[in-house]
Amino acid sequence: MNTAYQQIQKTLKWSPQTWLITGCAGFIGSNLLEHLLKLNQTVVGLDNFSTGKQQNLDEVKSLVSTEQWARFSFVEGDICDPDTCQKVCAGVDFVLHQAALGSVPRSIADPLTSHASNVTGQLNMLVAARDQKVHRIVYAASSSTYGDHPGLPKVEDTIGKPLSPYAVTKYVNELYADVFARCYGSEAIGLRYFNVFGPRQDPDGAYAAVIPKWVAAMLKGEPIYINGTGETSRDFCYVKNVIQANILAATSEKEGAANQVYNVAVNVRTDLLQLFDLLRDGLAATRPELEDLKPVHRDFRAGDVLHSQADVSKARELLGYVPTHTIEQGLAEALEWYAKSLSG
Ligand SMILES: NC(=O)c1ccc[n+]([C@@H]2O[C@H](COP(=O)([O-])OP(=O)(O)OC[C@H]3O[C@@H](n4cnc5c(N)ncnc54)[C@H](O)[C@@H]3O)[C@@H](O)[C@H]2O)c1
Repeated sequence: MNTAYQQIQKTLKWSPQTWLITGCAGFIGSNLLEHLLKLNQTVVGLDNFSTGKQQNLDEVKSLVSTEQWARFSFVEGDICDPDTCQKVCAGVDFVLHQAALGSVPRSIADPLTSHASNVTGQLNMLVAARDQKVHRIVYAASSSTYGDHPGLPKVEDTIGKPLSPYAVTKYVNELYADVFARCYGSEAIGLRYFNVFGPRQDPDGAYAAVIPKWVAAMLKGEPIYINGTGETSRDFCYVKNVIQANILAATSEKEGAANQVYNVAVNVRTDLLQLFDLLRDGLAATRPELEDLKPVHRDFRAGDVLHSQADVSKARELLGYVPTHTIEQGLAEALEWYAKSLSG
């Protein structure tokens, strides 16, 4: 039983709060939006549609009641604009700051654009949250901050050198949040997500994440490429675990819980060959033609770390975080969504 999470959700239903989700038309943002609206919260959403989609907002609308949807207001705008950040923070209790340009290779191809959204944008949000007296800002940090440190599992205090401009931006997020706590008494919590997956994660484009990209390719009968031998491993984290971590981080009153960074994953490592088998076998249950599918190997990708696995004991102890979904449980839900949305 997941008491801290269950309790806070009950409390929020009785006593709704006002939340701002930046990046709310994206994958994680739209999942947070759906969950908060289902808890009858008031939500303001901000997105510039750089990678997010109106379609994600439309889908959330179809999954909540008319009354719940009426508690949502959306602003199309950019976190690089300080005035927009001030405007959307007004009257807000909690900020869940998800807006950023994800992807290691995108940041290697174009570091300036990633820096603008990820660093300048987050700084604007910290200033706005401070000025508008937001109770707490929870921001999306990243496992990429562990960089070249070989230790496993990853523990929050021990990081290496960043391996990409993206990793630098996510580390700078943590430094700024920490300094805002010291200089202005702001409350900020960073959540280092590890390879999140789930419904509404974009399968298209050069910078798509591995799970949606492979699922889409399998459904279309296209080849699946593995960069390297396939021993690369990740702690794949279903989006519902991420939602739990955000809600607990925003609301935790436990002494010492604020102004920290936390790993958010499951503490289980799955390599790419195992992932390939899980996806193929999951889809082959209804598509027997996939049963004998084999991957195609190609070169290892610059900037990628070889292995990643989270120690989640800090989040467990200070936030009461208990992941509810293993990779298998998450894939059971996500594959169903992909099969429906990609074939229709
Ligand atoms: N998905 C993962 O595995 C993962 C892992 C670690 C960290 N993260 C972080 O989690 C957050 C959410 O990622 P996601 O996977 O949902 O990506 P996503 O691309 O689906 O969502 C990001 C959203 O932010 C919006 N956005 C980007 N720049 C913006 C700007 N300047 N102004 C306003 N909106 C802007 C995009 O349009 C998009 O809707 C990001 O901060 C990302 O770095 C994700």
